Amino acid sequence: MSQVGQAQANAQLLVDWLRSNPPRPGSSILFAGAGTGQMFDFLSPEVLSPYRITFADINLDYLNLLESRLKSKTQLRYEIVVDNIERPQLSARYALAVAILVLEHVDWQVAVAALCALSLENVFVVIQENPPESTMAVGESQPLIGTMSVFREVHPILVNKEELVQEFSHHGFRLVSSCVKRVRYEKKMVGLGFAKNCRMQGSTPERRNELKCAETESGT
Ligand SMILES: C[S@@+](CC[C@H](N)C(=O)[O-])C[C@H]1O[C@@H](n2cnc3c(N)ncnc32)[C@H](O)[C@@H]1O
Repeated sequence: MSQVGQAQANAQLLVDWLRSNPPRPGSSILFAGAGTGQMFDFLSPEVLSPYRITFADINLDYLNLLESRLKSKTQLRYEIVVDNIERPQLSARYALAVAILVLEHVDWQVAVAALCALSLENVFVVIQENPPESTMAVGESQPLIGTMSVFREVHPILVNKEELVQEFSHHGFRLVSSCVKRVRYEKKMVGLGFAKNCRMQGSTPERRNELKCAETESGT
């Protein structure tokens, strides 16, 4: 994906999110559907070095490639696990759950429920938007590079942003950040950050949205 500019755009979207909403140092971050980690070619390891990272994907081959890619990044504290975001076996909870260009490949409502259940504070997703006439995630004229070669067999389906925001709100997560980066083939990468609503006694829904969630991390 790096050759079409998506990986670089997504790395920037993630860096921008982490800068504005840094998890507490030492807390844990889940990358669901981490893939081969092309994005990490564009990400300075310092951005993630304060955290404990779990890279998860359904495809072990992709995770092996990710591991090779991360070999030189010795500052990173991470584990790699095979896991299906539609039926996660992960027992830990994460300060932040990240899913970049994954929802297009799965039953996205099921994945959103899983991401919300796995997150203690925030979820950050990147979805793809195409020019209006195209609903497929990959344009027909676009060369299929790296992990994108899987698209020859399976066609990812784009997710509607408004429906996604609505779905997150059903799980008690509100949209707190929305950022767009244009990439090649007239596509857009849309970074959406969600925060868990506080459930504090006596607080009105309006007030709740202004409060920082007081829940503490456990089981990580
Ligand atoms: C387009 S790639 C994105 C990879 C990576 N997040 C990135 O931005 O480079 C989609 C990834 O989702 C993974 N994936 C597909 N279905 C999955 C599932 N049910 N659970 C976990 N990962 C899945 C694929 O194996 C692939 O690595």
